[in-house]
Amino acid sequence: MRWSLALAQFVAVLVMWIGGASGLQPWEWCPCTSPDMCIPLPAKLQFQVEVLVFDFGGTDYQHYDWSKITAVVIGDRYNRRLLCAAHEHNVRVIMKGDIPAKSLRNHDTIKEWIRQQVYIAKASFFDGIYLEQLQKIKPGTQEYGAMTQLMNETARVFHRAIPGSQVSINVPWSPHCGDGPCYDYVPIARSCDFLFVMTIHMQSEMGDECFAKANAPYDYTYSGLSAYINLGIDSRKLVMGVPWYGSDYRCKHFYEPGRCQLEEVPHKEGVCNFHISKSKPYKDIMQELPKSFTGRYWDDNYKSPYYVYKLTDKYHEVWYDDPESLSLKATIVKKLKLRGIGASFGNFLNYSVNPIAAVQTEDMWNALCPIRKKWNVWNV
Ligand SMILES: *[C@@H]1O[C@H](CO)[C@@H](O)[C@H](O)[C@H]1NC(C)=O
Ligand SMILES: *[C@@H]1O[C@H](CO)[C@@H](O)[C@H](O)[C@H]1NC(C)=O
Repeated sequence: MRWSLALAQFVAVLVMWIGGASGLQPWEWCPCTSPDMCIPLPAKLQFQVEVLVFDFGGTDYQHYDWSKITAVVIGDRYNRRLLCAAHEHNVRVIMKGDIPAKSLRNHDTIKEWIRQQVYIAKASFFDGIYLEQLQKIKPGTQEYGAMTQLMNETARVFHRAIPGSQVSINVPWSPHCGDGPCYDYVPIARSCDFLFVMTIHMQSEMGDECFAKANAPYDYTYSGLSAYINLGIDSRKLVMGVPWYGSDYRCKHFYEPGRCQLEEVPHKEGVCNFHISKSKPYKDIMQELPKSFTGRYWDDNYKSPYYVYKLTDKYHEVWYDDPESLSLKATIVKKLKLRGIGASFGNFLNYSVNPIAAVQTEDMWNALCPIRKKWNVWNV
């Protein structure tokens, strides 16, 4: 069954209303065969390394390598049965929360928003919330201070209502306030479980040279995360994001592989608007690569693979991540002693029974998690 957060929100309000009148409890809506699977994971179940996977619905979750994941972050659309599979494998299910910047201006709306999120989480048996703030917030504004307070209260309310729940927020690849939101990171990191660092697409801040580039070069990933640590944030409060997709650029002028010049679009961050690229899931890249004009090339500077293909009379260059670039990045988790790693999206791998696809998919899961099994830490 297709299920959406908007629907969950509606049900939550309905449940609050009926529940008050009839004593009906939210767990009567448990989608799993065993009601045990609708109990959030216990607080004592903690992992040395967090491995997050983002999911946007459908039935792909049935093929996830649950032995490697510690939490699934679900999107607006999700399959309710994912919860049962996740809990059965001791994996947390985290909902997304997106508060509109304008609601941050009023403390009552903030409190009401938190109350609603906790209610949705409890009624849907989730194990936490991942905040996603897509609008820009500038230092010195009212929203900037309110965001710090929102995180503090969200974490406090969730941790009390759902013991062991996970409260996190996504932050730009580097703390300097560029292309994306920016917050008062130090107190925010202190109050929540971790910051999810979007070391996923950083081309727009890699200089003005208008050529196709890697999404997430190793050095930028390393320096962005280090910059958070240099602010005084505990490295155990940082989770590194990795993409399971690539960027497809149409070249205005193609000189040679690795030199694909792009159309210049005036943009507030520079002349080159990298958003003109198209995201391409890893499973599609694997289909396209063997038919490409170049085959797989490796850029040693960015530590990323790429290839070139031709569509009608235009050259396209695709930069992506594969098991080689991802396992290199996964070593950063160990080097900087981070809390973990997270991939978007779980749905971007090919889960068909085809043996070639199966090997490619397994290699991606292995690259994410160099340690073969997750390491449980029971604080009993
Ligand atoms: C959250 O806010 C309260 C009240 O302003 C403060 O006392 C507390 O230290 C904050 N918690 C964290 C973890 O920053
Ligand atoms: C999965 O891989 C197989 C073999 O390469 C291919 O035939 C199939 O179309 C792929 N499926 C998807 C959804 O990409």
